[in-house]
This record gives sequence, structure tokens and C-alpha cells, in this order.
Amino acid sequence: MTDASATLVRELEALGLERREARWIVDEFAPAGDALFATAVRHAAERRRAGEPLQYILGHWPFRTLDLDVDPRVLIPRPETEELVGVVLRELARSSSATPLIVDLGCGSGAIGLALHSELDDRGVRATVVAVDVSLDALAVARRNALKHQLLRTSFVHSNWFDELDPSLRTHVDVITANPPYVGEGEMTFLDPVLTFEPRGALVSADFDGVVGFADVASIISAAGEWLAPGGLIVCEHGTDHGSAAQEAARHAGLVDVRGERDMAGHDRFLIARQPT
Ligand SMILES: C[S@@+](CC[C@H](N)C(=O)[O-])C[C@H]1O[C@@H](n2cnc3c(N)ncnc32)[C@H](O)[C@@H]1O
Repeated sequence: MTDASATLVRELEALGLERREARWIVDEFAPAGDALFATAVRHAAERRRAGEPLQYILGHWPFRTLDLDVDPRVLIPRPETEELVGVVLRELARSSSATPLIVDLGCGSGAIGLALHSELDDRGVRATVVAVDVSLDALAVARRNALKHQLLRTSFVHSNWFDELDPSLRTHVDVITANPPYVGEGEMTFLDPVLTFEPRGALVSADFDGVVGFADVASIISAAGEWLAPGGLIVCEHGTDHGSAAQEAARHAGLVDVRGERDMAGHDRFLIARQPT
């Protein structure tokens, strides 16, 4: 860091920013501390002081091995979703397919599907990924991320969950991944106000069967069996109170090897299940 950029960092700290965030902003907008870019740095600092998430201000954020473009059109990918990718890779290592077909439902920035595409490539596994979202804005960001990382075996479908998927994929999908919205309407009030910067449609889901925020998780799990190949896998992220309802929905849908897994914070977070062989 140059003397000039250190001076800018101190200026942002004096405005109330944490040192770490001040450094990230200066590194992004004026890495050499060039006075020409000081206005951009101060503008970014103002946005941060107004509560906007740092990820949107920087415009990109790491997710596993990828640097993903993110903006207010998409959810900021979360660390627990990085864990979901790890769960899928672990489960896939037990199967023999060298060319799995993966459907990533609610792709947002493309985080899950693109990370799988990239990390499976590194393992010599040539996955085909179909990334689905109901938001055209999200699909535009996900497409940009695919191009940015040259992940060209990922295609994009504008769809309400499975509705617009090519019917010929029925019973041929090896892996379904999903991180659907799972926050209840009423819960938003009690959560971090930073969430108000993210798309509401990426966060909030209706209640289902008396379970708060469970409608989208339920809808995905209940239809998964129609699309999975024999032995195919679903890994779905869900709310911390959704574990037993998600497992019940999976058994009801005829799936087997149904279990839940906790995230690193110890929260019941992932449903894992398979189509019978
Ligand atoms: C929690 S975000 C997850 C984004 C990304 N997969 C991630 O993990 O960072 C949920 C995503 O599901 C999408 N979504 C919400 N309802 C949907 C629906 N009915 N059909 C398809 N996608 C939907 C939202 O637009 C959003 O991009």
C-alpha cells in the first residue's frame, strides 16, 4: 500500500468505516492512492456509511474459487452456500458419472452452478449445468459470470422452478441443487437491515403447511422426483427451522437416503436425498 492510499484509508476510518473495509474500498477504487480516484473512493465510502453491503459497492465477491460479479439484482452469495457446493462435490465423488447433468434452481449470480462447473472441471468431470431463475435480472448477472470465467457448458433458463425446463430432461437429471428463498414475510423485520438491499424475491417465501417461509423449498422437493435420474441427488439449502419438514417432504416425494446436514455454524441447513435406483 502506498503512502497516498494509506492516507485515504485513514480518511475513511475517520468517517467511521472499519479499517478492513476502508482498505478494500481503497484497493478497489484507488489502489495506488491516485488523487484522481479519491472522489470514487469517497463516494463508495458514503454508500457504505448508508448501509449498502460492501459486496455491491465493490461489484464482485469471492465464492469458493470464483470471483463473481454481484450487484443489487442478485443475492450476495453466502458462506453456507459455499458449504452446499462442498456437500454436492463430496456426494458426487461417490458416483461414477463423468458427465453429470446438474440443474441449479434459483441460480442468482450463478454461484452454485458455476462453482460446481468449475471445480468439477478441475477434477476432470465434464458437467453440463442448467441454471434456472425466475428473475431475468439475475439471469443476466449469472450469464455475465459464466462468460467471465469461460464456463461455457452452463445454459440459462427463465423459469418458475421446473416449469419451463425442457421436458426431455425428465428422469435424466443427475443433480438438483437449490438455495431457494426461505425467509418468512414476518421474519424480515427481525433480520439484519442489510437484507433490505437485496432482492426481496431472492429472500422471502410464503408459508406452507404451517411452516414459515417453506413454500419454495416444499415446491422444489416435491417435484424433484419427476426430474431426477435413478440414483440422482438433490441438495437443497433451507431455513434453520425447516429440517424436519424438508425431510418429510422428500420422503413423501418418494426420495430415499433422506438426511439433513448442519452448516459450520451448527444450523440445520441442507436437505440431502436421492432418487431410488
Ligand atoms: C436465495 S437466492 C439464491 C441465489 C444463488 N443460488 C445463491 O445461492 O447465491 C434465491 C434465488 O431464487 C430465485 N427464485 C425465487 N423464486 C423463484 C422461482 N419461483 N423460480 C425460479 N427461481 C426463483 C431468486 O430470483 C433468487 O435468484
